[in-house]
Amino acid sequence: MENKGTYYISTPIYYPSSNLHIGHTYCTVMADAMARFKRLQGYDVMFLTGTDEHGQKIQTKAIEKGVTPQEYVDEIVAGIKDLWATMEISYDDFIRTTEQRHMERVQEIWKRMYEKGDIYLGTYEGLYCKECEAFWTESQLVDGCCPDCGRPVMKASEEAYFFKMSKYADRLLELFRENPDFLVPESRRNEMVAFVEQGMEDLCVSRTSFDWGIPVPNDPKHVMYVWVDALSNYVTALGGPYDCEKFNKYWPCDCHLVGKEIVRFHSLIWPAMLMSADLPLPKQVRGHGWLLLGGEKVSKSKAAKGEDIIDPVILIDRYGIDALKFFLLREYTFGQDGSFTNEVMLKRMNFDLANDLGNLLSRTVSMIEKYCGGEVPAATTRDEIDDELIEMATGVAAKVEERMNEFQFNLALEEIWTLIRRANKYIDEKTPWILAKDESKKAELDTVMRNLAESLRIVSILIIPYMHTTSDRMREQLGLADVEGVWEDAFEFYKMDGCRAKKGDQLFPRIDIDKELEELYALSESLKNKN
Ligand code: MSP
Repeated sequence: MENKGTYYISTPIYYPSSNLHIGHTYCTVMADAMARFKRLQGYDVMFLTGTDEHGQKIQTKAIEKGVTPQEYVDEIVAGIKDLWATMEISYDDFIRTTEQRHMERVQEIWKRMYEKGDIYLGTYEGLYCKECEAFWTESQLVDGCCPDCGRPVMKASEEAYFFKMSKYADRLLELFRENPDFLVPESRRNEMVAFVEQGMEDLCVSRTSFDWGIPVPNDPKHVMYVWVDALSNYVTALGGPYDCEKFNKYWPCDCHLVGKEIVRFHSLIWPAMLMSADLPLPKQVRGHGWLLLGGEKVSKSKAAKGEDIIDPVILIDRYGIDALKFFLLREYTFGQDGSFTNEVMLKRMNFDLANDLGNLLSRTVSMIEKYCGGEVPAATTRDEIDDELIEMATGVAAKVEERMNEFQFNLALEEIWTLIRRANKYIDEKTPWILAKDESKKAELDTVMRNLAESLRIVSILIIPYMHTTSDRMREQLGLADVEGVWEDAFEFYKMDGCRAKKGDQLFPRIDIDKELEELYALSESLKNKN
């Protein structure tokens, strides 16, 4: 396969302050699908995720629980790693900000910024949101509260180091002007440009009020502001800022995938830090929307009240990894918020997976067994209906590629499902059960069987980034278990000479939606009582 070069994608590093929910899963699933898509296309991929473990909030939670902060995060991080292992998330590295490799390298980044003359000692007086670990100015508050989480802010005053963010305002504006793709979607870019144009203040980058953080070089009574620590992960995980093979190979990052609420940190603070440390800037920051529950951002506190189950562990246990991943990628439009409900999820799983895809495979494989003794036959006839199917099947990969380049996962999947639905319709149009009754129609029947098998083969390649285990199960039934699914083969028809189809288990069992919703409701009630 042609080597396309490198591709580096990251998720935010999540706070291990409590277990992750469907919102975090959504972001990681998108990054995983993109990483798998790029690998399939022949890129040398670096997919990074991890955990952001320092800060006052974690320290406070640990004290409440009567354990050390390290003990506290170790337990939650183990759960996060288990979740990603269960979901077969294909990350190449998992960075924890409490790791020595990270802490030492962040101190080096700090030193470079300090030596540049960009970090100075001053006094901080401001309004601080403990929950978001963010300082706000009076004008940024919404109804006197944190504009991100709506919680009250508190006045804080302490000796602190400052980063001369203001010095980089012009270069940031130039970055947005000259690289329209640096920050997408465009609406987010406009917000950030307005934010910078309003006038940027220097950023307070150290704290003395708690000690769960990375010590400031040469002044260890200060710990670094958690966002300086956290943002650096994208560089430290590669061995940066030092000149080393991995860092040189993958940096600058192709895409920092983040939720819209942290776009500001990634598209202003992070580039300014890199400019100060004389390091190249990431190529792109992509802000995705939120999953909403009853109109509000899904969060742990919502989970305790809600009726919809948002714990990914429970959902995977009931429906499997692929169904959950498919739902998240197919249902939501990148960049926009979307409502999450169990009903919407179950309907997607039933209609698209059990009905459309599951039925197409089981109908096709059963007919090949029944009419052709399991052997995928040769196609020796061809009419306009065949032409239409073949043209569509061999044209989908290019469309998927186009959609994926824009992170339009839902539309990429829709392209694939257009083919699946077309193939189901092809069966109805060709009525193979009638052809089978007439010996003189044997060649035509064979063509139908072959064309369906080939269409499914193409589908099995196209879905690899989103549902790789389903792809494997399909290929098993199509007699392709020993043939690796290769992207280039999705552009070609008639690649299945000598294959033997064999019926296996249903890909996705049909869900009785009403009954299932009742069970989920009961489960949610019992979880509420536990909380
Ligand atoms: N630790 C910081 C990120 C540092 S990155 C250098 C942080 N962590 S977090 O645990 O709060 O995770 C935030 C991210 O989780 C969001 O940016 C988003 O990707 C994802 N989501 C959390 N809740 C979400 C929804 N309700 N909906 C969609 N994504 C959500 O911020």
